[in-house]
Amino acid sequence: MAFCPLLVIPLNKKVHIRTFGCQMNAYDSDKMADLLYASHGLEKTEHAEEADVIVLNTCSVREKAQEKVFSDLGRLAELKRDKPGLVIAVGGCVASQEGHAIVARAPYVDLVFGPQTLHRLPALLDARRRSGTAQVDISFPEIEKFDALPPARVEGPTAFVSIMEGCSKYCSFCVVPYTRGEEFSRPLPDVLREISDLAARGVKEVTLLGQNVNAYLDLESNAEDTDFAALLEQVSALPAIERIRYTTSHPLEFTQRLIDAHARLPKLVGQVHLPVQSGSDRILAAMKRGYTALEYKSIICRLREVCPQISLSSDFIIGFPGETEADFNATLQLIDVVGFDGSYGFIYSPRPGTPAAELPDGLSEQVKLARLQTLLAKTDAAAARISQAMVGTRQRVLVDGHAKRDTYELRGRTDNNRVVNFPGQARLIGQFVEVTITATAHYSLRGEIVILS
Ligand code: SAM
Ligand code: F3S
Repeated sequence: MAFCPLLVIPLNKKVHIRTFGCQMNAYDSDKMADLLYASHGLEKTEHAEEADVIVLNTCSVREKAQEKVFSDLGRLAELKRDKPGLVIAVGGCVASQEGHAIVARAPYVDLVFGPQTLHRLPALLDARRRSGTAQVDISFPEIEKFDALPPARVEGPTAFVSIMEGCSKYCSFCVVPYTRGEEFSRPLPDVLREISDLAARGVKEVTLLGQNVNAYLDLESNAEDTDFAALLEQVSALPAIERIRYTTSHPLEFTQRLIDAHARLPKLVGQVHLPVQSGSDRILAAMKRGYTALEYKSIICRLREVCPQISLSSDFIIGFPGETEADFNATLQLIDVVGFDGSYGFIYSPRPGTPAAELPDGLSEQVKLARLQTLLAKTDAAAARISQAMVGTRQRVLVDGHAKRDTYELRGRTDNNRVVNFPGQARLIGQFVEVTITATAHYSLRGEIVILS
């Protein structure tokens, strides 16, 4: 371990957390902030220069993540030269992959921890202070993490709740199972307790989070139904929770029970993000996704039978090794058939240690970029058409704060997760209101309040 000078974290100091990557990382960053506030009284700051502890919460799903982290760290080293007591911590998936190598290459780093050891951050900080040496903990102690987290700080009427973590699917292109570990679910009573506690503090909408949220299975329970559909049923039974979202779901576990839950539970929003990755069976097999394009379409058909208005979005990988023009056209065709309401497209990025990284990649960057642009133009145009069709309709909107651009206006979200800005009084923040959509803006909608709910 690298030796560093003795650090003392004085009270009333600040933490700056820089988050890269997915919703899970954003959630983890909130948990780190809650933990460091509870344990060391550290307040959050947006400015690295005024921080006493800086955390990089890294992501390694795409791009040259490792190199980006080290170049960020280089800049932080300069800050530390002016402020020797500054604590630099690296968390997230790059930390999980690189471990001790981070301290070896950047000896001014004080703490390295993985997504499953973030709850040990306060103890690591103290150990660093006591020992004078950098602390590295990238183990996978699983459920212990949730037991060790303080109650979340509630900011507004919406909250995220992680119900499962990790991934056991091992898609051939993806690094997540190696950095976040295998799938494990939190016990149902714990999840319900956390949501009831949030509801008691004014939360009306929860987003249930997981790498594959519908792989949820409460293994500790003796009850017969302990899957994701059963969990939705129970969350739905909490009177103060009025709206339920979830992300991200996986086609493999999109069971008929889950589809039936959509039919049965009015609190469950009519919006699903269901990554398909490709419309070509050949590519889906090479990706080891475990389903065909037809099986994916069958899920969508059954979902639409019970929820005709459902809004669907997806993730697509462009330029997976061996993707031909015909494969790409199959993806475009799937987009047309399903009618997605916006989606994410990513150029394939070989991830060290994954099976696909060994496959020859014959496509030029130019072709990949052109395909990505074609795909995004299609999904963006579809989303714009759906927004346009919402003009004149009434939408139920949960008001979560003031509009970003005009603080005299309010901002909320519709069931299909669109931001709506509209004139209204601040006392409506935290309430559901009925809004008539009057116009579409760039990435949002404009509206007028109709009736208070
Ligand atoms: N569990 C989700 C699912 O059902 O597939 C995916 C979670 S993954 C962290 C988020 C998205 O990142 C994936 O859906 C995929 O589109 C993208 N992704 C993952 N690995 C990638 C890679 N090596 N290159 C490009 N995109 C990648
Ligand atoms: Fe990654 Fe596939 Fe899991 S995309 S997160 S290995 S479902």
